[in-house]
Amino acid sequence: MHEFRVRKGHLYCEGVPVERVARAAGTPVYLYSYKTIVDHFTKLRTAFRELAPLICFSVKANGNLAILKVLVRHGAGLDIVSGGELHKALAAGCPPKRIVFASVGKQPEEIRDALRAGIFCLNVESLPELETIQAEAVLARRAAPVALRINPDVEAHTHRYITTGIAESKFGIDLETAERLISRRWREFPSLRLMGFHLHIGSQITKAEPFIRSIKRVGGLITRLRRRGLAIEWLNLGGGLGIVYKDERPQTAAEFARAVVPLVRRLQVRLILEPGRFIVGNAGILVTRVLYRKDARGKRFLVVDAGMNDLIRPALYGAYHEVVPTVPDSKTSRAVYDVVGPVCESADVLARNRRLPRLEAGEHLAVLGAGAYGFVMSSNYNGRPRAAEVLVRGTRTFVIRRRETKDDLLRYDLVPQELLT
Ligand code: LLP
Repeated sequence: MHEFRVRKGHLYCEGVPVERVARAAGTPVYLYSYKTIVDHFTKLRTAFRELAPLICFSVKANGNLAILKVLVRHGAGLDIVSGGELHKALAAGCPPKRIVFASVGKQPEEIRDALRAGIFCLNVESLPELETIQAEAVLARRAAPVALRINPDVEAHTHRYITTGIAESKFGIDLETAERLISRRWREFPSLRLMGFHLHIGSQITKAEPFIRSIKRVGGLITRLRRRGLAIEWLNLGGGLGIVYKDERPQTAAEFARAVVPLVRRLQVRLILEPGRFIVGNAGILVTRVLYRKDARGKRFLVVDAGMNDLIRPALYGAYHEVVPTVPDSKTSRAVYDVVGPVCESADVLARNRRLPRLEAGEHLAVLGAGAYGFVMSSNYNGRPRAAEVLVRGTRTFVIRRRETKDDLLRYDLVPQELLT
């Protein structure tokens, strides 16, 4: 459930009409519901309460500092993928012991910073990475807590670009290699402390079955290693829980927990989850203003002021996002439109063939399900300052990121005088 609903002819975010935010903050603007974010986090925590897992929100899904702080205050840890996200996680006040770090390309400096901060665990994706962490741990004179990210070779039945646990993907270490590494070569890494295993098989996964298969595969490994006397304490299941964009029927948190908890209990491991989309996906919308209604040969377009630079998911993955007017019933006549942005790319289509009212310039549309992988993937392409972000809590509205200005577009460019002589 989320807190974007139509009441008295207006789309509301909690107790605030979206139209009002659009007029006050300008467009395009990302708008989030505090209650939805917290509800989703609580739902997952409640579903898994008997295991008391460490739930590390995936910063890559939405890195806004206010949102991170809200989640951290509610007890979330954070899943990071870079030194930049480490910096953000620490700025958000996340206790280091609740930070986990996954990435196929961790650089020595990022590893050093993570060790210095004392994060909970580095999720390691290759042998050379283990060697780098070992070297950094020696330099830092600290033990480095690590988990091996296992690529279980399980099809997650999701978009090709967001499948991560199949053999040909760049992520993780296959089971055999991991087992060989731990049983034959682990003494080469005296400064590493093996905490357990990490899985992340993909994103927008709507069924529990691929998770179950992955846990079973890693479970076999854990059991074999324990027989040899190795203590394996943690299993990190990653993120990936799917949400409703259109007509998907994703598992609920409770259904997911019912499937997973017995397996995890049997394995006697402590659990980490890294949800991103599940927490914030349906907690955010992108509000945009109609610039032109354009009738071309046999095709109708609504040209709006948000483009693929603001929300790249439709262009990059062919992702479906529902688009609704902020004042849904103001008109009776409807037609089928493509909702397109102003960016000079044919891929700049936010929504295709949607039945929408005959909106006039200046009226607003809301692109739903934009809270995850929305703002974070935005760019300045076509000289477009990035959107503002606004958070609603009850009847109150807070700007949590100011809109970029045109001057911001000049901020990082340098023009050496010698070029102009
Ligand atoms: N943990 C790891 C190691 C990850 O790589 C990811 C996402 C997550 C957790 C969180 O996954 P989630 O719960 O959000 O599915 N930009 C794409 C999604 C990329 C996901 C990358 N990894 C999209 O817009 O669909």
